[in-house]
Amino acid sequence: MENKAIPRLHEVFADHFRIGAAVNPRTIVQSKDLLTVHFNSITAENEMKFERLQPAEGEFMFEEADRLVRFARENGMHMRGHTLVWHNQTPDWVFEDKHGGPVDKETLFARMKAHIETVVGRYKADIDCWDVVNEAVADGGDALLRESRWTKIAGDEFIAKAFEYAHEADPDAKLFYNDYNESDPVKRDKIIRLVQSLLNRGVPIHGIGLQAHWSLYHPSLDDIRQAIEKYAALGLRLHITEMDVSHYAFDDRRADLAEPTPEMQERFAERYEQFFDLFREYKAHIDSVTFWGVDDSYTWLSHFPVRSRKNWPLLFDANQQPKEAFWRVVKS
Ligand code: GLA
Repeated sequence: MENKAIPRLHEVFADHFRIGAAVNPRTIVQSKDLLTVHFNSITAENEMKFERLQPAEGEFMFEEADRLVRFARENGMHMRGHTLVWHNQTPDWVFEDKHGGPVDKETLFARMKAHIETVVGRYKADIDCWDVVNEAVADGGDALLRESRWTKIAGDEFIAKAFEYAHEADPDAKLFYNDYNESDPVKRDKIIRLVQSLLNRGVPIHGIGLQAHWSLYHPSLDDIRQAIEKYAALGLRLHITEMDVSHYAFDDRRADLAEPTPEMQERFAERYEQFFDLFREYKAHIDSVTFWGVDDSYTWLSHFPVRSRKNWPLLFDANQQPKEAFWRVVKS
């Protein structure tokens, strides 16, 4: 098998950080060889989200999540838990009373606690860290938090509660706040304000997840460096949680490219090399770098933000072969 001849990504970074991939029940079959050769950590792409684990109150569905946990266990991989409290992919029942109106805060917290206790408790032996709260901070404007069904019912209190419940459920788990546009200076400073206020109140939070949904053009290396430094200065661990590098700027809605141009391929390799140089430099603070996918045969970016537009954001191509970017990252 060709893959044997190339260095194993996770071995190259064994002294730096773990190398992870988001997976689902299809990709652990389709991309099994790549996964087991190059990665030593996985994250469930969707299978541990609220709507998947508890679609109706008290009716937990663990089959798919369990399958991914078994895969990690059988292959000696770490697993990140993703995600407990989020404004997306959370079923309506969580926020509604039996007449369809909003529940009161106490009921919402009781439901949140029951969910977190059950899920974190179940995977205690296999999952050592959780993205406890995902994407609570507002992108632009003055508001610190994004308006959501969580904030409408519970204000900002839901964030501290989520971390407290997760800590009670597994006192050994490392608990993360995870967000995108994490390197944007305005949002970065809001994330810092939020996390600092949690720390000041003694809330059990141990790390920040930098999603790292980046592109050929954005963000600048300098903004990423500043973000890493400022987050690390809080004394927290950093995980790169959902890395991919789109070939398009976010506002670019072109959809006529069958494959990346040579210029794009070169820029892609150069960007990845620079990102990993930066990660190496800050290895004292970074515990893991997880890609949001395994290879270009399957990536959410082929459907977002433009439906059915192919994108090529990962280190392995659609034929599961290492791209030039891979070689630049491993530096051989
Ligand atoms: C966010 C979430 C992930 C995933 C991606 C898109 O970043 O945290 O779970 O849904 O969006 O795939």
